[in-house]
Amino acid sequence: MVKTTEKTTEVMSGTNNKSPIDTLNEMRAKSHLGGGKDRIERQHDEGKLTARERIDLLLDPGSFHEIDAFVVHRERNFGMDADDKKFLGDSVVTGWGTINGRLTYVFSQDFTVIGGSLSEVHAEKICKIMDMAMKTGAPVIGINDSGGARIQEGVISLGGYADIFLKNTLSSGVIPQISLIMGPCAGGAVYSPALTDFIIMVKNTSYMFVTGPDVVKAVTQEDVTKEELGGAMTHTGLSGVAHLAAENEEDAMFLVQELLSYIPQNNMEDPKVVLTRDDSLRTEEVLDTIIPESPNKPYDMKEIIRLIMDEGRFFEIQPDFAANIVIGFARLGGHSVGIIANQPQVLAGVLDIDASEKAARFIRFCDCFNIPIVTFVDVPGFMPGVKQEHGGIIRAGAKLLYAYCEATVPKLTVITRKAYGGAYDVMSSKHIRGDLNLAWPSAEIAVMGPDGAVNIIFRREIAEAADPVAKKAELVAEYRKQFANPYIAAGRGFIDDIIQPRETRPRLINALEAFLNKRDSNPMKKHGNIPL
Ligand code: HXC
Repeated sequence: MVKTTEKTTEVMSGTNNKSPIDTLNEMRAKSHLGGGKDRIERQHDEGKLTARERIDLLLDPGSFHEIDAFVVHRERNFGMDADDKKFLGDSVVTGWGTINGRLTYVFSQDFTVIGGSLSEVHAEKICKIMDMAMKTGAPVIGINDSGGARIQEGVISLGGYADIFLKNTLSSGVIPQISLIMGPCAGGAVYSPALTDFIIMVKNTSYMFVTGPDVVKAVTQEDVTKEELGGAMTHTGLSGVAHLAAENEEDAMFLVQELLSYIPQNNMEDPKVVLTRDDSLRTEEVLDTIIPESPNKPYDMKEIIRLIMDEGRFFEIQPDFAANIVIGFARLGGHSVGIIANQPQVLAGVLDIDASEKAARFIRFCDCFNIPIVTFVDVPGFMPGVKQEHGGIIRAGAKLLYAYCEATVPKLTVITRKAYGGAYDVMSSKHIRGDLNLAWPSAEIAVMGPDGAVNIIFRREIAEAADPVAKKAELVAEYRKQFANPYIAAGRGFIDDIIQPRETRPRLINALEAFLNKRDSNPMKKHGNIPL
């Protein structure tokens, strides 16, 4: 194992006979070895890369510039003052480089050095990087692989975490922050990634939890493995804490690179326009017949999204969580857009607590970073039920409504089929500053669906009819003809146009280009009070 031994101290103080340049190179080599060869081997044996290997994989080749490689920890107790407990750079590698030519700051926790635990200087190094990123307006990527607060440093380490939390919060909405979880991330340490915009976890080798399986067992008597409690599948499928689960570390880096391509450097810039060979005027005949005849038959909204977006590409975020709403990035005519779409294939596309929160947070991200929002609507309403009401669907639905109302980026809406009740208002309607609201001829826009409506307004007539089933069918057909269509809304100007589905792509691109320079503002305030 290579540690900073007495010999290192000699080297550091320049008391040996080496030339200054040889000394520098020797120290740099030591710093590059982190916790030493044995620890690196152990890291590899566990299927994990080292902090530096990860940076090399993430950034453009040769672009990384490290800082603070000579920093060592300051703790003098619990044997930490021994030379062999001091590692050059301590337990995190920090610096900057480029991703597809764009400046990006990165910190990568080094598990080979004292379990990647967070010392005072470790926190200072991260804070320095974050300050630089804020000054230069560039994203920060944090690679997490750490045993948490350095136990030997006690409250000083906790203070270090708090310093990072504050910077995460102040940077939020100014520069994009992306967290990669590539090992343990436990205790209060989880709150730094949780404050960032996106969390990407690696399957089988990463986990996040506030309290681990042993504490859970002691407190609640529940038996649970690390993976079940806080692995990648748990957080991308059940809790919604993480956004994407990568197959392995290489895949995780690819996901970061792809994600960043849709996002600008900071909140003062627009996303980069990417040249596309896909014709802006391309029409898709298949869209004209994609909506099933039966209003209750599901179809895949993602197919519609792919048919409309540039080159059929859709980078979905949180695909496994609250799948009744679909969110993600795509491009239209080369312009980056954020997509929010009800998914009729899952729970008929209903809005429940998880779906509302998932979409609300994504809308706010897009709005922070000048990414126009395209909404595809096919929503039967909010999810009924005691569990949802008691769980706070009112509060969760209000988050989604608030996020849409507050957003000032271009907002384009396409109603493909159902837009019923409060969900019609919420899903980027004209009333809450939708810039262009289109409907397909199959759209049904009304207070509620035909079945529910006739049950309420014709209860007596149905009950008293000689054949209640036939009477109800007749009333449903009548209601559908009168209300379940887009023409009443279009007649009031709540829908700007009813279009043939095949025209959707050219119409959206045309509108996007028209509204790109749109200016909309909210009243001056310290900040609003979103119903959290
Ligand atoms: C100091 C630590 C450490 C820590 C690990 N190490 N975590 N040293 N402070 N927090 C050291 C170990 O002593 C060991 O050193 C080396 O790192 C590698 O750790 P191992 O245990 O050998 O690795 P492994 O078996 O892979 O287990 C990893 C681990 C475990 C599950 C993370 O180390 C662990 O449980 N660590 C403590 C986790 C924890 O409770 N942290 C505090 C959480 S609270 P040697 O020299 O023996 O090899 C927290 C509060 C944040 O973080 C507050 C923010 C508000």
